[in-house]
Amino acid sequence: MKKLVLMMLAGLFMISCASKQNAEQQAEEPAAKKVLVLYFSVTNTTKQMAEYIQQKTGADIEALELVNAYSTVYDEIIKRSGEEREGNVLPELKPLKANVADYDVIFLGYPLWFGTYAQPVKTLLASGALNGKTVVPFCTSGSSGVKQSVDEMHSTYPTINIADCMGVRSSLMDKMPATVDRVLINLGLIEGQNEALADYSAQQAPTAEETEIFNAAISTYPMMNGTQAVSVGSRTTSKGTDYKFVGEANGAKMDIYITKENSGAAPYFTAVDR
Ligand SMILES: Cc1cc2nc3c(=O)[nH]c(=O)nc-3n(C[C@H](O)[C@H](O)[C@H](O)COP(=O)(O)O)c2cc1C
Repeated sequence: MKKLVLMMLAGLFMISCASKQNAEQQAEEPAAKKVLVLYFSVTNTTKQMAEYIQQKTGADIEALELVNAYSTVYDEIIKRSGEEREGNVLPELKPLKANVADYDVIFLGYPLWFGTYAQPVKTLLASGALNGKTVVPFCTSGSSGVKQSVDEMHSTYPTINIADCMGVRSSLMDKMPATVDRVLINLGLIEGQNEALADYSAQQAPTAEETEIFNAAISTYPMMNGTQAVSVGSRTTSKGTDYKFVGEANGAKMDIYITKENSGAAPYFTAVDR
């Protein structure tokens, strides 16, 4: 994880260094970065996020299309993608219309399938099309965080410069614009100021109140039933309190990120990193 964070920071640093140099070297405005949003989406949740990024950046946008498209019936997608995953089958993509080499930054969007990027994105990455490029992975999911997919992308394709990343749960799409804006500001692609976020405090045993917040947040997602809060760290933000819980279910530990806003709204979890 440390390695990933360092690498992401290095990516950001390189991007901000490059723009600083340009500003010093040229009297006129540096050339705008060419941005492409590439995404895969079956039920259009990731598509919404892709389109938002496109609108905010004025990027070009393209959906990955399969030669043999998935059904949109949930059980059928699960069956086919499960078989492809088990058999390590890479579903064939139609050729991209965009020439990836023309772009400085590529936003790569996908639904999380079985904890990582959906199989068609595996096809794209395995083609080598993004090797050596600056990529910003983004995903939507039921509950899982973006981390596992980014770790996998980094270890399998080490020449890809992962500049930043973001994930949004499909039930929290109302919070998607704020998540995206934060990354776009970080990358210097839109104007704005991000709130500086403190580190989480050290993990310690949860208080009764924190356990209540944990239980309330996970109660909205039946697959989290039976998960216990083991420890927690927190930080205060302008909106409320963010918690990073370590949870445990069936002997497996996971990080669960929960926010409780000052508005008094029910606490909600934003990601589960297994
Ligand atoms: C085959 C399959 C596997 C999935 N696996 C996960 C998963 O491991 N973790 C998760 O949180 N959500 C999982 N989901 C839920 C999707 O990530 C989520 O619904 C996503 O927002 C769908 O994006 P789309 O509408 O762009 O296709 C899975 C969905 C499918 C169809």
